[in-house]
Amino acid sequence: MLRFFCISTAEIRLRRGRAKLRSSKHAGFPTPAAESRQSPGLDSGSSSAYHCAMHSFHYENGSLHCEGVDLQSLADDHGTPLYVYSAGTIRDHFTRLDAALGELDHMICYAVKANSNLAILDLLRRQGSGFDIVSGGELFRVQKAGGDAGKSTFAGVGKTRAEIEQALRAGIYSINVESEAELAFIDQVAASVGIQAPVALRVNPNVDAGTHKYISTGKSENKFGIDFERVREVYGRAAQEYPNLILRGLQMHIGSQLTSIKPFVEAVEKVAPLVAELKDAHGIEFFSIGGGIGIVYQDSLDSGKLAWWDTHAEKPLTIEEYAAELVPRLKPLGLRILVEPGRFMVGNAGVLMTQVLYEKRGSAKTFKVVDSGMNDLIRPALYEGHHDIVPIKQPADTTTEVVDIVGPICESGDFFAQDRELPPLAEGDRIALMSAGAYGFTMASNYNSRPFPAEILVDGETPHLIRKRQVLDDLIAGEQVLPG
Ligand code: LLP
Repeated sequence: MLRFFCISTAEIRLRRGRAKLRSSKHAGFPTPAAESRQSPGLDSGSSSAYHCAMHSFHYENGSLHCEGVDLQSLADDHGTPLYVYSAGTIRDHFTRLDAALGELDHMICYAVKANSNLAILDLLRRQGSGFDIVSGGELFRVQKAGGDAGKSTFAGVGKTRAEIEQALRAGIYSINVESEAELAFIDQVAASVGIQAPVALRVNPNVDAGTHKYISTGKSENKFGIDFERVREVYGRAAQEYPNLILRGLQMHIGSQLTSIKPFVEAVEKVAPLVAELKDAHGIEFFSIGGGIGIVYQDSLDSGKLAWWDTHAEKPLTIEEYAAELVPRLKPLGLRILVEPGRFMVGNAGVLMTQVLYEKRGSAKTFKVVDSGMNDLIRPALYEGHHDIVPIKQPADTTTEVVDIVGPICESGDFFAQDRELPPLAEGDRIALMSAGAYGFTMASNYNSRPFPAEILVDGETPHLIRKRQVLDDLIAGEQVLPG
């Protein structure tokens, strides 16, 4: 039987330490000695920390597998489109991040919006995760999954009275406040409910995250947070005027899919002195540095191979680099540090499987029409997001053709890839859109009255159906025609 996610937190620490000693090039990664023990693919069942950490999608016997499960058989049993996630990968990501932050008093609050399936929340809860939520609906999910509101933070610019009451009654760890108007409102709601509200202001540090404009949040022109220059004053006023608030922390989040450490460092260096001041003045107990750690979207499958990391010119941000740069800057604060990773935890742990319905050879392009569309995965349409596409059946040779992979939705923006060089794909062939575990299903819709796909969570050799495919009746549940 293959071994996949098999290392303990202590072992990761040990390996990181050894790696540092042996070679700076390999700092935080498996050592050359470890590397030589491995075959180049994930199919080796390697026990390397690094190897395990990316994801567990790999070819085995000519077919794409997730951990020990053949995706072809999953598509046969459950149909397509189908989301498939690797439990081992998610656990491994949590373990690595937790270990990397080990020197800090820290709390990982998984950003539920990335993937909110109950089974995923339950899995992370069992690992010890807290949660970062942005709605009453997400809080409901966290609680249904057995998650602890006392380890959860509530973000978002437009919280309603009902949501604030719900969070207070649930015993939320902190409500992260995005405006002065909201601060005053939370004080009022807290008074009416008779529960003091633990809050943290979200500071907008005005730092360029260098990411897509729709997922950049830390610049003054973005709607998020309170201007850096005003934060001191707002805390001062809150301490004097709002008796129903507990000033518990300070929060920031500069954007998502950050592939360089620079903006994180810039933001932490800018905000840390303010945090220290607020600790002295108001006794705040935590500083949340938000989420945003980027993942690999290009070469997604190959990045599972250790060799890829050595040969790839532009190395994406690793969790080891993230921690090596930030921990020393955060430790002197002597506060609890919160992180809110979403994509890092689940992004590379999931794929969306779809099947080619038709080939259409136009005068300008060749289109492969598949049975999934922007309703199931909107990232390419919304952010021009790139998702690698790999055939489920391993191609026998290296022949390729340039094609567009398009969905069935009546929109020109309904594509998964344009002018992409792919192996030949015939009608009936199945493909996987890689790195679809984050912001895939959670952003899906019923547009064009298409039912939601099913979701499978693979754990070792066992696939678990964690969400049934919607049936047509689900599409009209709750709807009513006029009487008469
Ligand atoms: N904390 C806050 C306050 C956030 O707004 C977000 C994400 C996170 C944490 C988690 O960020 P992450 O670690 O996942 O980067 N739908 C877009 C991403 C939107 C992110 C929104 N906020 C996408 O598909 O790329």
